[in-house]
Amino acid sequence: MPYSHPSTFMAVFPCEAVHARGRGVFFVCGIMGYVGPRPAVEVLIGGLRRLEYRGYDSAGIALGMAQGIHLVKRAGPLRVLWEELEQNPPPPAGMGIGHTRWATHGGVSDENAHPHLDCHERIAVVHNGIIENAAALRIELESRGHRLRSETDSELVAHLLEEAPGDLLHRLQAVANRCEGAYALLAFDLADPNRLCAVRRTSPIAIGFTENEVFVASGAIALAPWLKRCIYLDDGEMADLRPGHADIFRLHDLAPVQKAFHEVSVSGDLPDAGRHKLFFRKELFEQPAAWRSVMQGRLDEAGSVDLSDTGLTHETLSAVQRVLFLAMGSSLHASQMAVERLQQFAQLPAEAHLSSEFRDTRTFLEPSTLVVAVSQSGETIDTLAALRHARALGATVVGLVNAPGSTIARESDYVFDLRAGAEISVASTKAFTTQAVALDLLASALAAAHGRGPNIESLSALRAAPTIAEDFLEEFRLPNDLVERCAQAPGVIFLGRGQDLSLAREGSLKLKELSYVWSEAFAAGELKHGPLALVDATVPVIVCATDSRHAVKLRNSLAEATARGAYGVSIGADLNATMHIALPIHDATAAYLIGTLPLQLLAVAVAETRGCTIDQPRNLAKSVTVE
Ligand code: G6P
Repeated sequence: MPYSHPSTFMAVFPCEAVHARGRGVFFVCGIMGYVGPRPAVEVLIGGLRRLEYRGYDSAGIALGMAQGIHLVKRAGPLRVLWEELEQNPPPPAGMGIGHTRWATHGGVSDENAHPHLDCHERIAVVHNGIIENAAALRIELESRGHRLRSETDSELVAHLLEEAPGDLLHRLQAVANRCEGAYALLAFDLADPNRLCAVRRTSPIAIGFTENEVFVASGAIALAPWLKRCIYLDDGEMADLRPGHADIFRLHDLAPVQKAFHEVSVSGDLPDAGRHKLFFRKELFEQPAAWRSVMQGRLDEAGSVDLSDTGLTHETLSAVQRVLFLAMGSSLHASQMAVERLQQFAQLPAEAHLSSEFRDTRTFLEPSTLVVAVSQSGETIDTLAALRHARALGATVVGLVNAPGSTIARESDYVFDLRAGAEISVASTKAFTTQAVALDLLASALAAAHGRGPNIESLSALRAAPTIAEDFLEEFRLPNDLVERCAQAPGVIFLGRGQDLSLAREGSLKLKELSYVWSEAFAAGELKHGPLALVDATVPVIVCATDSRHAVKLRNSLAEATARGAYGVSIGADLNATMHIALPIHDATAAYLIGTLPLQLLAVAVAETRGCTIDQPRNLAKSVTVE
């Protein structure tokens, strides 16, 4: 059986709640499907385990056999479902679908868990996303006598399939055309054995097959144990899946679509935090290796940057007159740092926009504006929507992602692969700093293309940064006093200027994500225009000072806070703080990276002190693929 001892299951905590503007709370689920000679239950559970890090609150499987559908669903972690399957082994079956659910329509219960069946228990469906016209569909189906067993929007699909004419593919097409919203659906029908059909409207679906089997999942990570290559459905596409075959069609007219194969670059092993116990810590310590990996073959000893693997040529870069970054969360902070770098290295105007705001703007984009969509997962819905908006305005887009097969990568003109390795912790560590390195390289390449630079000192400091970081991580001990004060504080203020403002924002984000301590980052100059009113002896004020050019002004800001009794902390330049954290490098480019480490270590230490669920903080999602 694929499920070893329960202790190897990752802990499961409430997370992945996403507040979308005016549309309630939406969540992210995991889908898995299989047809072939292996016991389907093993593949389904094996795949779902790899999707666990996304977060969920219940799980289920439906196995298709000649004698009927074997359905097992349980609220709680996958372990509970597994225990049930161990106690009551299911009959052998080679076809099945499975699901990890985050509650949206209806609470967390066995009944509301997926898969869902039709009235005759011949059709099974799993669903990721939201069906916005569910209320009207429910009334309609009930008026026609359908017996609905759950409170979910997803179950409606099974009943709509039951009514629709034609074979499974045509029926799913008809049903998708009736369902409004953003979703992915996967279904089978016992009347159509050895066949799965899927449809994608926004939520991702990856598909792979061997000679005599077919696999489908909501992420390539779930296919990794069995497959080296996969295809991704694009929006508005359907898949007709049988062992050894995946036929892809356009949803609106069922015209066949040719798909390219993508490498499944993640390991097939189950993610394991090893000696670090927490993925957050493991990934924090993996940062030096991730920086080496992103620089490999792109930055040589002489300081020249070669981004040919991204497809970006000297000619393309030299035509760029303005750069616009689109991102959310930590990716936005890396982008805000890059704005500084673009101005400094390449002397080009640059802006960083929250994707969620940009997607609705009426901005004008000149053809010489390069848009960079920065996203670890490459699936963040707001960044994807902003990218599409930018492309519709005629922009050329670089997707800077950690997942080269992701939707953002596929929809970008150029792909800058971060090569940071899978990031499992919801709160970003290595993806964030690796983005910063990648953006330094992009800024340097743009500088070179415009005849400015190279900035040899910064680039050699960048090359040295991994080794310096390794030494720092080995030697650095976070002061207990600082951890205790932050753990007990009613709030923590982070300050910075220039690149250090983006670092302050990232430090504040890490602290609030992991420890739930209220924190906020301000531009240091803003302090006396309001935030100073919050300062007293209980509020630590942490000043990021990795760019020594701003040291004098930052020292003044800190003095204003400590004069009001604040516990002052400086990172980087010595600002006469109560607590100073020195960094072993002075170049601002590299100091930014090394300066991130104590902020990450502080966040995890405070979270541990407060007993928080670190890898999967409450209410948060790793990959926000649904509005
Ligand atoms: C979520 C994650 C953050 C991440 C942000 C953007 O909020 O919790 O860690 O920075 O999404 O995600 P992306 O995959 O686009 O970088």
